[in-house]
Order: sequence, then structure tokens, then C-alpha cells
Amino acid sequence: MEWALIGGTGVEKLPLKHSSSLRVDTPYGLISLETGMLGEKSLVFLKRHGEGHSVPPHLINYRGNIWALKKMGVKKILATGAVGSISADFHIGDIVLVDQFLDFTKSRPQTFFEGGEQGVLHVDVSEPYCPILRQRIVQCAENLGLTVKNGGVYVCTEGPRFETPAEIRMYKTLGGQVVGMTGVPEVVLARELGMCYATLALVTNEAAGITQKPLTHSEVIATMNMLGETVAQLIEAIIDNDIEDQGCYCSTGNKEAGMF
Ligand code: HPA
Repeated sequence: MEWALIGGTGVEKLPLKHSSSLRVDTPYGLISLETGMLGEKSLVFLKRHGEGHSVPPHLINYRGNIWALKKMGVKKILATGAVGSISADFHIGDIVLVDQFLDFTKSRPQTFFEGGEQGVLHVDVSEPYCPILRQRIVQCAENLGLTVKNGGVYVCTEGPRFETPAEIRMYKTLGGQVVGMTGVPEVVLARELGMCYATLALVTNEAAGITQKPLTHSEVIATMNMLGETVAQLIEAIIDNDIEDQGCYCSTGNKEAGMF
């Protein structure tokens, strides 16, 4: 299957036809997936936070998830992620096609290449999110009359707590524009296994200190519920518009290590 969707917070159900559940064995443990048809195309669907949103961001099995998708033959991954806005350019309800990240995670295995037999890979992430896939997403959104904001710097925090206003001020000073807890190392691991990857960052709230209100997960969920249908529509259109050869260099991401 060419396509996978990694559904983040609030994207935990998809109207898949002919769906079936399966478990894929990986060196990092068993991974639960769903497969089915979204519109006319088949797709692998992975819930990032597991059944019933049961896994917090810092404990997600990022390596197992990406390995399982590779094993299923996936070449292109669309991911969704709830984010808080740090920038006056991004508002609640916006869909942002992020193009860079700042990594503030602390405890997560960041690579498949841990030396020894696996070798060492210093993967290139000059363009961490597939530029061709991003371009196609913009096009599909335009065709549907949806506004997707093209480009944004995603700050990935360790979570599971929200940030302090002082942290948000720091991220802003460093150029961060939206903040979430799950985008890294997922995007890097996809590149390490040579898969195209793009994130639809869904702005669910203003970040800490930008708003004076305390942040709550239920606020995040409420905005996601509002966005759910639009996102499902966009994802279906993107997958439906598939082209065989994207002409990007994502698939050569691990060439230097020569492992896959
Ligand atoms: N911070 C971190 N992660 C998030 C936020 C936030 O404000 N909103 C949704 N996910």
C-alpha cells in the first residue's frame, strides 16, 4: 500500500471501507494498524496515540510505527498533528503545512541507525517535509476551496505537559510558529526509511502566554472536532490525486548507510 495516514489527536476515526485491523511485527514491538479504502484508494491508518488516545507523546513507539509502515510497503505518509499557535499569522482552526522543525524533545530514540550492524546515518533534513507532497497538498486544498497555510516552523516539545509562557517566548524568539508534542522524531524516521512525509498541523489553541487562559486538552479536542470533516475531505483528495513518481529525493534518504 502506497499511502499511510498517521492520525494524531482528534483524527482517530476514518470512514474506511472494507477495513481490517492487523498487527505488524517490528524489531520495536507489535504495531496495530488498520487498512481499508478511503474513497477509491487503499490506505494504511495508524493511530499515533493508540486505542482511545492511551499513549502520551513521549512514550509513542515512533520507530515501531514507522518501521511497520515501511514493512507494509508504504511510500508516502500524511500525518496530522494538533498544535498551539505561537505566531500572529496562525489562528485557531488553521491548517498549516509546516516546512521546518525545531526539536526540543528530550528522551526519544531519534534514529534507526544505532551503530554496529545498523551503521550510522547522518540523514539530511534540509527539507524535512517532502516538498513535492506539500505542493500537491496545496493544490488539492485549492481545488477544494480550502485554505492551507503553506510553510511554518514546528516546535516539538517533550510533553506531556503544555509549555510555560517563558518557553513559548523563547520558541518565538528562535523562530518557532506552532508548537506540538509529536512531530519529532516521526518525520526524521520516515526520511531515514526513505518515505515521503508531510504534516497537516491543525491549530487547536493559542499557545501558553499568547492566550491568558489555562490550556486544556478538551479545548484541543473541541477544535479538532470542528476541523475533522475538512481534514478527512482533504486527505481523501490528496490520496485520490496520486502520481506514481513524485521526483523528490526522499527515497534516497538512507543511501549513505545502504541499509534499506
Ligand atoms: N502545546 C503543545 N502541544 C499542543 C498544543 C500546545 O499548545 N496544542 C495542541 N498540541
